[in-house]
Amino acid sequence: MEKNFNRYLVTSALPYANGPVHIGHLAGVYIPSDIYTRYLRLKGEDVLSICGSDEHGVPITIKAKKEGVSPQDIVDKYHNIIKEAFKGLGISFDIYSRTSSDIHKETASDFFKTLYDKGEFIEKTTQQFYDEEAKQFLADRYITGTCPHCKNDKAYGDQCEACGTSLNATDLIEAKSAITGNKPVLKDTKHWFLPLDKHEAFLKEWILENHKEWKPNVYGQCKSWLDLGLQPRAVSRDLDWGVPVPVEGADGKVLYVWFDAPIGYISATKELTPNWEDYWKKDDTKLVHFIGKDNIVFHCIVFPSMLKADGSYILPENVPANEFLNLENDKISTSRNWAVWLHEYLEDFKGKEDVLRYVLCANAPETKDNDFTWRDFQARNNNELVAILGNFVNRALVLTHKYFNGVVPAKAELTDYDKEVLAEIPVIKQKVEKNIEIYKFREALKELMNLARLGNKYLADTEPWKLIKTDEERVKTILNISLQISASLSVLMEPFIPFSADKLKGFLNISDISWENVGSSDIIATGHQINKASLLFEKIDDKEIEVQLQKLEETKKANLADNYTPAEQKENVSFDDFMKMDIRTATILSAEKVAKTKKLLKLEVDTGVDKRTVVSGIAEYYKPEDIIGKQVSILINLEPRKIKGIESQGMILMAEDADGTLQFISPTNTIKNGSEIR
Ligand code: 2FM
Ligand code: ZN
Repeated sequence: MEKNFNRYLVTSALPYANGPVHIGHLAGVYIPSDIYTRYLRLKGEDVLSICGSDEHGVPITIKAKKEGVSPQDIVDKYHNIIKEAFKGLGISFDIYSRTSSDIHKETASDFFKTLYDKGEFIEKTTQQFYDEEAKQFLADRYITGTCPHCKNDKAYGDQCEACGTSLNATDLIEAKSAITGNKPVLKDTKHWFLPLDKHEAFLKEWILENHKEWKPNVYGQCKSWLDLGLQPRAVSRDLDWGVPVPVEGADGKVLYVWFDAPIGYISATKELTPNWEDYWKKDDTKLVHFIGKDNIVFHCIVFPSMLKADGSYILPENVPANEFLNLENDKISTSRNWAVWLHEYLEDFKGKEDVLRYVLCANAPETKDNDFTWRDFQARNNNELVAILGNFVNRALVLTHKYFNGVVPAKAELTDYDKEVLAEIPVIKQKVEKNIEIYKFREALKELMNLARLGNKYLADTEPWKLIKTDEERVKTILNISLQISASLSVLMEPFIPFSADKLKGFLNISDISWENVGSSDIIATGHQINKASLLFEKIDDKEIEVQLQKLEETKKANLADNYTPAEQKENVSFDDFMKMDIRTATILSAEKVAKTKKLLKLEVDTGVDKRTVVSGIAEYYKPEDIIGKQVSILINLEPRKIKGIESQGMILMAEDADGTLQFISPTNTIKNGSEIR
């Protein structure tokens, strides 16, 4: 049974303030959360929508160092770009705050202190690399060295991007500090850990038993974490950028960014309203976190454990995470500039904010990764927004002006068809509602478009332009009904495409229509004067799309040409040595993620010689289901080695792009498995 809630608190993942926001972020998090909050507001619910910039963490310090500025300079710059861009797209947060604010530092600090005083942390001293010249402990990303598994000499302290193995910095051969290039020394350091294991039983019951309704991707990820068993997690770091650990003797230590960031939701609410505790601490508040799939563990396991450890907070009722959006069949990547940046879109497509909102919702990666292409963007605008929605309301408005000087005509006697059409409006409204409430925004938008389709069909079937000479009374009824549909549409559109909804309300000269009115056959009164109308949507022509495609083409070229120094040629090997390597073609038979790793896939391959298991560090680039049946190259006589307890018999050969992404080396045409590659 769904509980009754008296208020809603909607949070959207705080974007890192080290780069602008792109369409992947929007489709994954901010468009869905905005639809949800706008809908609740329209229904007259008490709702707050909270967001802000996530301004701590090591990547921000690395970027600052690279650019020779302070971390504060970096976050100031991006905070403003992001905030303005959200506003431009009509993302209607009640507050867009930031985690470098004083109120946040104080809130996060107090939160830690409360847990500390309650004995909710474990203190542990571990050894960590320290740069004696820079006089600082080194975050994993600040340590490079040679990977013990594949000998890649550019491995980081937390992982080797070449072979995908997760590493401890101490595993690296010849570890070096990325700051001075010196060899770091190991030094004792004390940190605070949140014992997630202590909350495991509670989390299991809360999620696995009581929240079976969560989206399958979210529930599934939680289940695999919980099945593996939880470990204590460090919530502090040795770093000089962040919220200082508020404990005696913790100089030079700050809260881990993933500890302070979700508290950012609380501090922003506090900044917004003195009644913040109603939203965070009362049982009749529904808390919903909108996030991307890479944030699931933090919002479903870590943050709830923190809230539970405090004891005075409510927990999220749902965490509707989306999957990822690709761009033109390629993974969106900030470092490769492979993205459509929101602030650039708003410049290039002035007045077309809703087109992006529409396309990103219609194509949102709700259940699986999806692709954004500029051609699809154009087609959805021209064939859906213009040809269906725009066309219908335009005809209704224009005909009313033409035949009745813009005065809403009275309905005469209704035919069965009229009654059917009118009866369909509340049915569609209900479908929109239901779908929004279960976070199926694509479906909800489809229903809204179905109402416009219904309107078009009604006009096409009744042909008022033919009847006007012979049966004016009938035309009055038809246009009255068409205007009722248009008025209902203007309200239903508001959560999805608010700029156009306002425009349409302006044309209809209506303002005070609530969600509850939608579906009534007299939402707009007889005798009401409507305003002059213009087009609701305009066609996007090929030229505009080609400009965008050209932009991406140039990015591709730049990525190939610039910033890439291929690795130096290695020492010569003898022909005999080369011939010792037995490289073959093989087909992937099955693939699955290796538990507790981000990068590894366990593959069964048919090498022609035999069928065998290979562990490969490609999980970030390929989904298991997408590579089954793929033909690849494999070194089959590499000595077997154990990776995460699995014996890997051989190595799949991959080409590494400038940004570290990996691609299979595959034959151009299918060839017998076991063919030798020389
Ligand atoms: O993944 C990210 O972009 C994070 N900055 C999200 C943080 S969400 C919350 F916890 F603040
Ligand atoms: Zn490696």
